[in-house]
Amino acid sequence: MSISGKSAAGTETARAEFLRLQDMLLAADIAYHQKDAPEISDADYDRAKRDYLSLLETHPDLAEIATWSEQVGAPVASGFGKITHAQRMLSLGNAFEDSDVADFDRSIRNYLGLGPDAALAYTAEPKIDGLSLSLRYENGVLMQAATRGDGSVGENVLANARTIADIPQEIPGAPAVLEVRGEVYMSHADFDALNARHAERGGKTFANPRNAAAGSLRQLDAEITRARPLRFFAYSWGELSEALAPTQTGAIARLKAFGFQTNPLTRRCDTTDALISHYKDIEAQRATLGYDIDGVVYKVDELALQARLGFRSTTPRWAIAHKFPAELAWTRLEGIDIQVGRTGALSPVARLAPVTVGGVVVSNATLHNEDYIRGLDSKGEDIRSGKDIRIGDWVQVYRAGDVIPKVADVDLSKRPETSEPYIFPHCCPECGSDAVREEGDAVRRCSGGVICPAQAVEKLKHFVSRAAFDIEGMGAKQVEQFHTDGWVKEPADIFKLAERYGTGLQQLKNREGWGDTSATNLFAAIDEKRNIEFARLIFGLGIRHVGEVGAKDLALHYLNWDALAAAADRARPAAVAHRAADEAEERERIKAQSEGRRAKVKETRDAATASCAVPTEAAAAWEDLTGVDGIGPTLGLSLSDAFANEHERAAFDRLLAELTVIEPDAPADDSPVAGKTVVFTGTLEKMTRAEAKARAESLGAKVSGSVSKKTDILVAGPGAGSKAKKAADLGIKTMDEDGWLALIGDA
Ligand code: IVH
Repeated sequence: MSISGKSAAGTETARAEFLRLQDMLLAADIAYHQKDAPEISDADYDRAKRDYLSLLETHPDLAEIATWSEQVGAPVASGFGKITHAQRMLSLGNAFEDSDVADFDRSIRNYLGLGPDAALAYTAEPKIDGLSLSLRYENGVLMQAATRGDGSVGENVLANARTIADIPQEIPGAPAVLEVRGEVYMSHADFDALNARHAERGGKTFANPRNAAAGSLRQLDAEITRARPLRFFAYSWGELSEALAPTQTGAIARLKAFGFQTNPLTRRCDTTDALISHYKDIEAQRATLGYDIDGVVYKVDELALQARLGFRSTTPRWAIAHKFPAELAWTRLEGIDIQVGRTGALSPVARLAPVTVGGVVVSNATLHNEDYIRGLDSKGEDIRSGKDIRIGDWVQVYRAGDVIPKVADVDLSKRPETSEPYIFPHCCPECGSDAVREEGDAVRRCSGGVICPAQAVEKLKHFVSRAAFDIEGMGAKQVEQFHTDGWVKEPADIFKLAERYGTGLQQLKNREGWGDTSATNLFAAIDEKRNIEFARLIFGLGIRHVGEVGAKDLALHYLNWDALAAAADRARPAAVAHRAADEAEERERIKAQSEGRRAKVKETRDAATASCAVPTEAAAAWEDLTGVDGIGPTLGLSLSDAFANEHERAAFDRLLAELTVIEPDAPADDSPVAGKTVVFTGTLEKMTRAEAKARAESLGAKVSGSVSKKTDILVAGPGAGSKAKKAADLGIKTMDEDGWLALIGDA
């Protein structure tokens, strides 16, 4: 099919293809961001994205029905309602040098007709590196939350703002109209944890906390925002039915009294020297604040003076941002270490001659992956204009609001003559197994699985973690200690600790860090987890791509271990064929590209599948597995690989021998929605998305993220968009939230 034809028929085909790709991308985003379990491979995603964007280019009219955008996890602006700000949201002028601050003071004095010695107070406070948000309260109730947008019109993100703990939902005693403005941001610790979660799944990570905050706030589904730890500092206001106070300092104190977080480093200063001295103080604390700031904002304290000073076209005359210099430094790259993660990912880490970057001594930095070092990505496109990175090079390190320093650039003029291109290891530095790169994966992974000690330790940490077995007293540190001592090599060993060493109790309590009580408690905590919910067990196994939600979906579908294992075994030939088809498709695409023709995807896949001779039973088992909502081929393949790996399978069996699995109840099959596929869209007012999904599933329904011919019921709340239209086109039964509640007897 041609996707660029512009005849009437061509346009119709393009539109259909566009909508198909759009649904696929939106569903993939939901799977990735909401369910923490990607359903399609990165390569498939990228391909869909490319085709989608190229259609948009050749058929600009499609922009009208476009609801997907490229920004990480964020839907396009049209997905949100528009809000016209009662008062424009402005930006700030910048000062870089102390002399700019003196100029700022001088121009204000000129404007107000104040002499150089007349009293003029300012406030100075950190400039938070997040995104601004305007909250409108009417009679003390939060009614609107709008992003800045173009300053005049922003997007309504009320549902998302309601999930942020720092934002009060109600303010008793507030003025009838109160618009509070401030910055939404993410702390360093929360950002690290979020990225670690994404990285564990082998997914995309956010470049910095600001992007993470922006991507999280601008989610069409507030449940995704809820799962992201966002914070809010109030520093300004818009429309007010009555003044808050005579000064900026007083107004901020009122906002604090209303329940907002205000920045504790806000000071009132009587002179520009005092402003600059506070700037230096804040700069010195920058690295330890725990969140990103990029300067200090100075504001005239007296609100009557602010009113007189007013605004230029886009910036107030009464405020300025004194920016910090960029955090950059050059240093020597002394070595490259390769770290191995739970899923076997080999991550290169730069070992640097220690250098101070923005007040922090940096001695290592991420090098991302093999391609980043090479200076050439997998599509053959240049990174850093194609300059590779070598040991011995002078490299530029930066912390652009990022917590993890990165290597940005190389100074080729300082490259030692003897330097050699870096060869990325093709075997795991921890266990020596082959490290392989699957097509479409930017990451090289150790194939050693359970025999790789690095993966084993990371897997053990995952196993005992909160969302998995949650064994009290057994954290990352203890796991490492037990692993180093050879006491615990795999999860099953945890349950054998008491028996093997126990006399163990005696042995354990003689060890550093363990006493009588802690040792007894640990064995009790371990015993307690011999009875384990099926979903936690599946999640705890640490199989790549199997996140908490995927594990739950599998548990509810298969109900017990034997059924799950049997399904994985039965589906194996089809899983292998699926991989072969993926690989054949990838090869065909590359070949087609170099030959300047369209890839014959379907034929290639069919031929590859046919050559694998998949028994019908296997095909059915694979269909069943990958048809489970939230599973899909990527997870299916990974699960199948784990069960087919003899070392891993034996480790599972040893673990199961120690456990009693608490199996989930089979879903009711006598409910009116049992076996039906349901899609929720638009705003739900009586329940959260998560609640609606859980309730529907408990009644035996399947909840899906996108409308297709398989959909039985669409529950559409206010603001339902393309899905409602699609359901109508397909003649799918559509009802509102009340209709749904009545149907399931919850009304
Ligand atoms: S005051 C009329 N105070 O910086 C000016 N802005 O570059 C109102 N920002 O859009 C803004 N921290 O998003 C103010 N303490 C602070 C700030 C701050 C961060 C952001 C804000 C604004 C941007 C301007």
